Amino acid sequence: MDCRLRPDESHGGEGLTAARRLDGTACAAQIRSEIAPRIAAFIQRHGRPPGLGVVLAGEHPASEIYVRNKIKTVAAAGCYAELFRLSAGATLDEALALVTRLNAREDVDGILVQSPLPEGMGPGAEQRVFDALDPTKDVDGFHPYNVGRLVQRRPTLVACTPLGCMELLEREKIPLRGRHAVVIGRSDIVGKPMALLLLHQDATVTICHSRTADLPAMARTADVLVAAIGRPGFVTRDFVKPGATVIDVGINTLTTQAEVFRCFPEGSRKRAHFAEKGSVLAGDVHPGVEEVAGALTPVPGGVGPLTIAMVLRNTVTAAENRVS
Ligand code: GUN
Repeated sequence: MDCRLRPDESHGGEGLTAARRLDGTACAAQIRSEIAPRIAAFIQRHGRPPGLGVVLAGEHPASEIYVRNKIKTVAAAGCYAELFRLSAGATLDEALALVTRLNAREDVDGILVQSPLPEGMGPGAEQRVFDALDPTKDVDGFHPYNVGRLVQRRPTLVACTPLGCMELLEREKIPLRGRHAVVIGRSDIVGKPMALLLLHQDATVTICHSRTADLPAMARTADVLVAAIGRPGFVTRDFVKPGATVIDVGINTLTTQAEVFRCFPEGSRKRAHFAEKGSVLAGDVHPGVEEVAGALTPVPGGVGPLTIAMVLRNTVTAAENRVS
């Protein structure tokens, strides 16, 4: 889990060393292996596996991929995982009715409603749906009960992406106590819970967002920088203090040559991949940051696999908590 960038992945620069690569794929595999005995014990004790119901409304292309990976991973671990689809034209009432049905199912321990919901459900629909979840089944930690427990530092179910980032930081022994952590992005799904988790590990935390004055200067004061803005290549090397740890939460699909050329240097494998496939994944962190940061998560293979491992872990935790 401590491997350096391969030579063909660095981007030149005289005398500069590449950042340590924080391998989310390896870390997630380790976490899944730790969860396996809990699943086996649950099945032995209760005669059924922990169960996850995933709700997907509409045909958001990225959500399709995320949901497929979540279900595949949870099922491969020996749990029950089922996808419940709603059409792009489904109403908020239909979504609420589905959640009510899943709340009542004994074999469903965890419910995950993939965000975003279709715009046609109206403003505030997502919160209404999260509010309707049985908080003991809320594997995303989005219900106000679970958010409140996190704020009060007595968490039960915590949002999977920030939780996965914390697991990686801990397992990679990145120090947090007394360090300055800067989170770029203030979403309910990542930015806010991430900031709270870092705070609870005694980091001094700053949340930056689109209205922050001189964002690069603020980011440059970070020992640990978390980029969760959803803008490809937004965090360039001038945002990063030499030696800082950079966690890239962004998973952006680039489909235009202009975007790809802005984010990736000439001769890079990413440009070649785009030329062949017509699209390529990019994080929120520009590749030039590799030469400045001390440690960095790749995209793909960084935070993504950890989010999914946390969906699995939260499903098992929810199942254990519900029957105990
Ligand atoms: N959309 C983007 N990230 C997430 C997540 O972690 N959970 C859910 N439910 N939807 C998302």
